[in-house]
Amino acid sequence: MTTPEPAVGPGAAVTYGCVLSPAELAPRALPQPRGTLSAFLADMLGGPVRTLEHPPGPDDDALFGEDGALALYCLYELHYRGFAGVADGWEWEPSLLRLRRDLEDDLDARLRREIAAADLAMTAPPRREPAAWIGDALRELVDAPGGPSVSRHLAERGSLEEFREFAIHRSLLQLKEADPHSWAIPRLRGAAKAALVEIQADEYGDGVQRDMHQTLFGLTMRTLGLDPSYGAYLDRVPAATLATVSLPSYLGLHRAHRGALVGHLAVFEMTSVAPMSAYSAALRRHGLPPAARLFFDTHVVADAHHQGVAADSLAAGLVRDEPALTDDLLFGARAAMALEDHAARPILAAWEAGDSSLR
Ligand SMILES: [Fe+2]
Ligand SMILES: [Fe+2]
Repeated sequence: MTTPEPAVGPGAAVTYGCVLSPAELAPRALPQPRGTLSAFLADMLGGPVRTLEHPPGPDDDALFGEDGALALYCLYELHYRGFAGVADGWEWEPSLLRLRRDLEDDLDARLRREIAAADLAMTAPPRREPAAWIGDALRELVDAPGGPSVSRHLAERGSLEEFREFAIHRSLLQLKEADPHSWAIPRLRGAAKAALVEIQADEYGDGVQRDMHQTLFGLTMRTLGLDPSYGAYLDRVPAATLATVSLPSYLGLHRAHRGALVGHLAVFEMTSVAPMSAYSAALRRHGLPPAARLFFDTHVVADAHHQGVAADSLAAGLVRDEPALTDDLLFGARAAMALEDHAARPILAAWEAGDSSLR
């Protein structure tokens, strides 16, 4: 399904008139189990909706364990597009929600331990009202020297095969980009809501399917010779990457964490421009056509604007209206930084060793 191809950029004839087909947008089958709980879910969810009498616990933890993290990822996916062959009614089955809650309690505790261990920069908040300093605090957090950088590696010396692996890692989030943060829209009010909608409108291509950032990432995948179908690579993606997707799902599904979801989005917008520019440079170095780079080039421009909106209108607007959410906002921002760093390290270590970073 295509629409006419306009030129993008100075004199460029870019093939970006691509939207994903209905089959590519449709949900996929449940993933291969990675342990006791994910096997139990694969077995149960394929059948009729019913009460789960004695669900097993996961073999490991809900943040970075392969079994627990995959189980939680699957339970969250029921709130997005679901899985082929899984009845829609499972989404609100109380016994499944109880299981999800147990995993989330573990996830939340693990997140707070990760944040404490990550020792993230952020000076003690001053006593002034939070709306006056929250933007600077977020800037301090994202500007602090970070760990190893996937984008820098790919721009400077990474192979095209490594870039394709990177795209597979990111596909779970980018092919539903903006969806987790949209849960905050009905939960915010006033200036913060308006700022969030301003960002989200861009993320959804101002209502043009071809321009939705989700679509643009599909175009990148296709140009790289990868399958742009929603969730196509779930079986290949390790828990550390799944955690980066489940985090905004967790925050988005709990109104109590609307502050953290705003903090998460703010960090995403504020850490985008340089890496997106580096990814685009990597693709140019490998001779990929402009269509492959459009997702990244679009973000360089859009997020140069979004980063200011996120810090000074969205985050500041929220804590001006609801100062009690300040700590939660910072929790979401720190969690985003910690999980991105945790996901990047094993990817770079695998490449350094000449191995694949995928399962
Ligand atoms: Fe985007
Ligand atoms: Fe953005």
